[in-house]
Amino acid sequence: MDLFEYQARDLFEQYGVPVLAGKIADTPEQAEAAARAIGGTVVVKAQVKIGGRGKAGGVKVASTPEEAKEKASGILGLDIKGHIVKRVMVAEAAEIDKEYYFSVLLDRSNRTFLSLCSVEGGMEIEQLAVERPEALAKVEVSAVTGIDKAKAVEIAKAANFSADLVDQVADVFVKLYEVFRKEDATLVEVNPLVRTKDGRILALDGKVSLDDNAEFRHQREEMERDQLDPLEAKAKAMDLNYVKLDGEVGIIGNGAGLVMSTLDVVAYAGARHGGVKPANFLDIGGGASAEVMAAGLDVILNDPQVKSVFVNVFGGITACDAVANGIVGALNTLGPKATKPLVVRLDGNNVEEGRKILKDFNHPLVTLADTMDDGADQAAKLAN
Ligand SMILES: Nc1ncnc2c1ncn2[C@@H]1O[C@H](COP(=O)(O)OP(=O)(O)OP(=O)(O)O)[C@@H](O)[C@H]1O
Ligand SMILES: [Mg+2]
Repeated sequence: MDLFEYQARDLFEQYGVPVLAGKIADTPEQAEAAARAIGGTVVVKAQVKIGGRGKAGGVKVASTPEEAKEKASGILGLDIKGHIVKRVMVAEAAEIDKEYYFSVLLDRSNRTFLSLCSVEGGMEIEQLAVERPEALAKVEVSAVTGIDKAKAVEIAKAANFSADLVDQVADVFVKLYEVFRKEDATLVEVNPLVRTKDGRILALDGKVSLDDNAEFRHQREEMERDQLDPLEAKAKAMDLNYVKLDGEVGIIGNGAGLVMSTLDVVAYAGARHGGVKPANFLDIGGGASAEVMAAGLDVILNDPQVKSVFVNVFGGITACDAVANGIVGALNTLGPKATKPLVVRLDGNNVEEGRKILKDFNHPLVTLADTMDDGADQAAKLAN
């Protein structure tokens, strides 16, 4: 899960990373009050989980509370690359002398942590990495020893911080690594990290991604979360591996690999049938019981965009007859709620028994397909 900037700021504060005062506001009036409470010049910042807010007009300086209100009313509701701004953070303004960049992240390809650091912060780091790679230090960080003071000094020196700053920024790096480690983050990025005119080092903008697999180790119930798509929320409540997509052909399969290939095959078939596409990813796993099948069908049939459903199951440990019984059970459970045509392709363990069950069931909405390609073709045709 990616955090909003204000959430990253709050975490930084807890860990003693130097940050400025910041208050969130959902209305221009709240922004005005926040600016008054903070006092002096403030910066009104759009809270959206996308980079480049500044360039898109989502970061504005205001020297009075009235001006903060006015700037906030301009930013709230703004569309930044498809993200509508619902909330701003009113932050104390810094007098910036110089902007730097620092991040620590999980480097999956090298199976280690990596720190990126540059004295040329502020601009987009992707651009810097391409245009002036020599200005971006990349320092491997061991997951065992992490960023201790010595490592932090190594990073600061690699990034060409001047000798008088190395010690000061290194202390901040150590704290940022604490955030990374203790919060189970996969990314902690500060852009810009700044030096102010009065010589302080401050994290002015933070981006933190948390590892969802480690959520059970944390208590974050009160944290603001992304709104799940209603169908995804329903699937999650039923413990289904479901991802909503844009198309018209609902997909149910067992095993993530098979489901991924099914999406591809349906997309290819769709190109021949009016450009229809897969409507979702849904892996019902190994034990495709009637309950799981019913839950999966229920979610998919509730998607108004779905016109047909392709059930593509390879019988392994759970044999095809059990899966077929699952489908029969699901359709019986759903009754009149099952309204869209179903193409079923079964293969593998006990395939003959499975097909026989579905043939005998003789449901008007169910068609059997012999192969995956054939099934994808029929489902795409029906959806068109
Ligand atoms: N509190 C602040 N005081 C003074 N200047 C600020 C403050 N916050 C941001 N700025 C200035 O605005 C610029 C853009 O801010 P910020 O980095 O937060 O957004 P962004 O980089 O445009 O967005 P993103 O990081 O999401 O791409 C900073 O580089 C900095 O120069
Ligand atoms: Mg930034």
